[in-house]
Amino acid sequence: MALLSIRELHKSYGGAPVLSGVSLDLRAGEVHALMGENGAGKSTLIRILAGVTVADRVEARLDGASLGLGTPAEADRAGFRFVHQELNIVPALSVAENIFLGHPMPRRFGAAVDWKRLNARAAEALARFGVRHIDPRAKAGRLGVGDRMLIRLASMLVGGASPARLFVLDEPTAALTHAESDRLFRVIDELARGGAAILYVSHRIDEVMALASRVTVLRDGKVALSAPTAETSRAALIRAMTGREIAEGHPPRLATPRPSVVCRLEDLSSGRLSGLRFDLRAGEVLGVVGLDNAGQSDLLRLLLGEGAPAGGRAEVAGRSLPRSPAEAWRRGIAYVPRERRKEGLMSGRTITANTVLPHLSRLSRHGLARPRREAAEARRVAERLRLRFQHLSQPVRTLSGGNQQKVVLGRATLATPRLLLLEEPTRGVDVGARQDIYAALRGLAAEGCAIVLASTDLPEVLGLADRILILRDGRQAAIVGAAGLDPSSLLALIYGDEEPVPAS
Ligand SMILES: Nc1ncnc2c1ncn2[C@@H]1O[C@H](COP(=O)(O)OP(=O)(O)OP(=O)(O)O)[C@@H](O)[C@H]1O
Ligand SMILES: [Mg+2]
Repeated sequence: MALLSIRELHKSYGGAPVLSGVSLDLRAGEVHALMGENGAGKSTLIRILAGVTVADRVEARLDGASLGLGTPAEADRAGFRFVHQELNIVPALSVAENIFLGHPMPRRFGAAVDWKRLNARAAEALARFGVRHIDPRAKAGRLGVGDRMLIRLASMLVGGASPARLFVLDEPTAALTHAESDRLFRVIDELARGGAAILYVSHRIDEVMALASRVTVLRDGKVALSAPTAETSRAALIRAMTGREIAEGHPPRLATPRPSVVCRLEDLSSGRLSGLRFDLRAGEVLGVVGLDNAGQSDLLRLLLGEGAPAGGRAEVAGRSLPRSPAEAWRRGIAYVPRERRKEGLMSGRTITANTVLPHLSRLSRHGLARPRREAAEARRVAERLRLRFQHLSQPVRTLSGGNQQKVVLGRATLATPRLLLLEEPTRGVDVGARQDIYAALRGLAAEGCAIVLASTDLPEVLGLADRILILRDGRQAAIVGAAGLDPSSLLALIYGDEEPVPAS
């Protein structure tokens, strides 16, 4: 018998159905993957299980007995634990307080919070994910997106009112490094072997195949497929998710890079970066790789005008480094940050406002706004990236996670930038959108845009980049041509096991 069984789940927003008649059975001891395109309804289903969103209609049974889903307290009593896609942490509280948020805190004599035990138990929970670099007493607001995810994961383990029976994780690996993901998979495996049910959302098919024993695919709010992973295939999953055939891979180059140099660094150093030395030409794609946090973000921020150069020379778009991101945007340098929701979006503003904001001076006439022109531009970008939305004046916070990401990308590419700085541009987007993004990047390169692509997805870097910059501890270790490399030889270069053949 299923631990949790869901039938006839219905939910609409403003008359538009998001989930219609969904069934789902979760068994104890089993990892069940939930897949589907951006906007398919995965997070909505999860929010309903958590009691933070109320279904229009649903029949739920726990161990065969009828279960009311409606409030977070009910979900907690049922033993459900959640790691949501939205990484809500309270910035002013400590890491340990965030880990225990909503859970009973250890207390002394049932009264005052026992801080020592609180911090020790928080550290223990983090240690299960191999995390020792986060101080439980640190303010959570200072942490980056990966560490925030680790806090939420630890929080799932410290326990609520009743013993945990179901763990639900909404795209946890989108914010994690490879090493952190591997440790998470081990913990999930342990939890399942301990008898818990796991519901796991991911866009990564390889991950799902390796981790889950069953998979359910949502398409347009309905179950398109539900099967043991052993009885399905990559192609079948893609077809179920998209309803079409998707040719995976990387579109061919449309043009070769032009001779004009867009960005030239000569022995540049700044903060922990040093020895940066390369020319980037118009239409060229430069991949940036390294171990976790080898300086990829620092390099992009430096080019965006957020770092202070300490030595060497730099020329970007014909001038020195921009002194601020605002100056960078004015000069045609666009940026897609890794921490999109934190840095990339004004969540209460509309799709149009978020898309056109840095382009307003170009879109206005004599300093006057032209709302219709703005909406037309936003619509053009939304269609190119197949954004799933109801109307352009919808606040971006009501878009699904992957669709919010498309807005950030759409904004950066609305006008062809001279230099486009991208960090993990396809994290959290579905398999079809990934191909749309690759095609859009190829198109921009053909128009002469120079692209710096920092990504931990090595096949992506190899498929798109002309040359690849390898960073090691903030230092430029090598630049190599992408042609002829495969992921394992690139990995060997990243680890420094092999000496690179320098690219011309
Ligand atoms: N508060 C809301 N108001 C209006 N529409 C909403 C609201 N919340 C969600 N939606 C819509 O419901 C649909 C499903 O969103 P959901 O977040 O469940 O998608 P998802 O499958 O999790 O996608 P992703 O892979 O991008 O995270 C989307 O089209 C979204 O815009
Ligand atoms: Mg989601």
